[in-house]
Amino acid sequence: MNFQKVLNPLFRNSDRDARKIQETQDALKAVMMDDDNVQETVTAVVVGAGSRGRGYADVAKVKPSWMKIIGVAEPNDEKRNLFATAHNISPENIFDDWRPLAAKGKIADVVFICTLDDQHYEPAIAFASLKYHIFLEKPMSINIEECAKITDALEKAGTVCAVGHVLRYSPFHRKIKEILDTKELGEILNIQHVEPVGWYHFAHSYVRGNWHKERNSTFSLMAKCCHDVDLLRWWTGLPFAKVSSFGSLTWFKQENKPKEAGDAKKCLDCKLQDTCPYSAKTVYLKNRWHTSVLAPSGKLTDIEDAVKSGPYGRCVYEMDNDVCDNQVVNIQFEKGDHTTPTATLTMIATSNALCERKVRIWCSNGDIEADEENAKIKITNFSTRQTRSINPYNSTQVVGGHGGSDMGITRAFILAVDAYKRGDRSTAQKYIPPIRESFTSHLFVFAAEHARHTSSVVDVQEYIEKHMQSTT
Ligand SMILES: NC(=O)c1ccc[n+]([C@@H]2O[C@H](COP(=O)([O-])OP(=O)(O)OC[C@H]3O[C@@H](n4cnc5c(N)ncnc54)[C@H](O)[C@@H]3O)[C@@H](O)[C@H]2O)c1
Repeated sequence: MNFQKVLNPLFRNSDRDARKIQETQDALKAVMMDDDNVQETVTAVVVGAGSRGRGYADVAKVKPSWMKIIGVAEPNDEKRNLFATAHNISPENIFDDWRPLAAKGKIADVVFICTLDDQHYEPAIAFASLKYHIFLEKPMSINIEECAKITDALEKAGTVCAVGHVLRYSPFHRKIKEILDTKELGEILNIQHVEPVGWYHFAHSYVRGNWHKERNSTFSLMAKCCHDVDLLRWWTGLPFAKVSSFGSLTWFKQENKPKEAGDAKKCLDCKLQDTCPYSAKTVYLKNRWHTSVLAPSGKLTDIEDAVKSGPYGRCVYEMDNDVCDNQVVNIQFEKGDHTTPTATLTMIATSNALCERKVRIWCSNGDIEADEENAKIKITNFSTRQTRSINPYNSTQVVGGHGGSDMGITRAFILAVDAYKRGDRSTAQKYIPPIRESFTSHLFVFAAEHARHTSSVVDVQEYIEKHMQSTT
């Protein structure tokens, strides 16, 4: 097995990245040896063989006894053929759209729905009616009404449904939850949570890529931070009471284009192509970062063509992007007693850290400083007056994409389906939270964005009730 193949290429060649690659390889080897065996290999079909669909399906290569991919629906010929070949899929189960796949009835245990944000609703409803176990990428949908309908349909189906809130499954975030749940540090008073998206990652996805325009996908708080809102809810176990939010598109717009760049609209026509931090030449041609998105074949000539003529070769100051590149959310939780814990969430585009969260949690009897970038969780206990540091990756836990989350959630989903198939629903529920919990996290994100749009403090329960009435 070539473990390198299942990793995302990393832009920076720093010591830190080298360490991460080593940790990932070690942990993937550990996964191969662990004893989480499923009774009967779970069969799966993938709708959308893009970045996410391919990533989840990779688990079938690492752990063939867990899952076998037996079908795919993908309109892009090149992606479809590569995927079908990689998983040795029979021709009768290869489709260029999810509809003919659904029309065949239920041909596998599970479906991974990995189409883009505005294309989740219809397949989710169709596959739920066929009683598939469903892995549905986040966001569930791009509006509350569709999220509510999906939730109802999946609850009615009664099968296992995982929504791609992958961070709950990373060793880092699980360790934080574990520490909080012991109550060693007492009650949570405040959380400061930062999602540093990463300067070239933000430019790739939210300036040039799929999530650059709200009308075509969703707002950046939903696209990027529905994970973080879900973590805040999960760690505290509390609903949001009130929320306010500020944010805007501040940097990636024409007014900030360097004068020396002149009229250049494409990086390869620009005088700054060797010095601009966002130069497509540097990011994609020199460092080959995320080039599978530009050219699924991986051929240099295809990547060059994409940089010459596609959106990923365009100047980041000359796009039609409109999503926020920085946003803060202020939260007051509903605890139902005399205490009122609070949290702040910051999403920032221009960080060196690449989605490696920075978290501080202040509790009544201690605090936590957690830095995903340096794989360090520092815990101080006021009673014992002792401070200790933990590296949550120093173990045989699963890592891989998103700091272990992608493998972690796929493993949990497969084990849940396996338990369900054996008639053990309570074990299935231990692995995957109820769909309504994921829906609630989405509702909080919609409420926060509403607060930003209206420059107001939103009473979250009132907001939800109002919107739920309008969907019934
Ligand atoms: N959970 C996470 O952490 C996480 C991270 C990134 C993206 N996402 C979400 O995952 C989803 C997919 O993102 P991606 O980066 O893989 O996008 P992508 O563009 O790489 O993949 C989507 C694929 O769906 C295919 N598709 C389009 N119409 C289809 C149809 N009718 N039938 C079947 N396939 C069809 C496209 O051709 C494409 O290959 C998005 O909703 C995104 O927001 C989640």
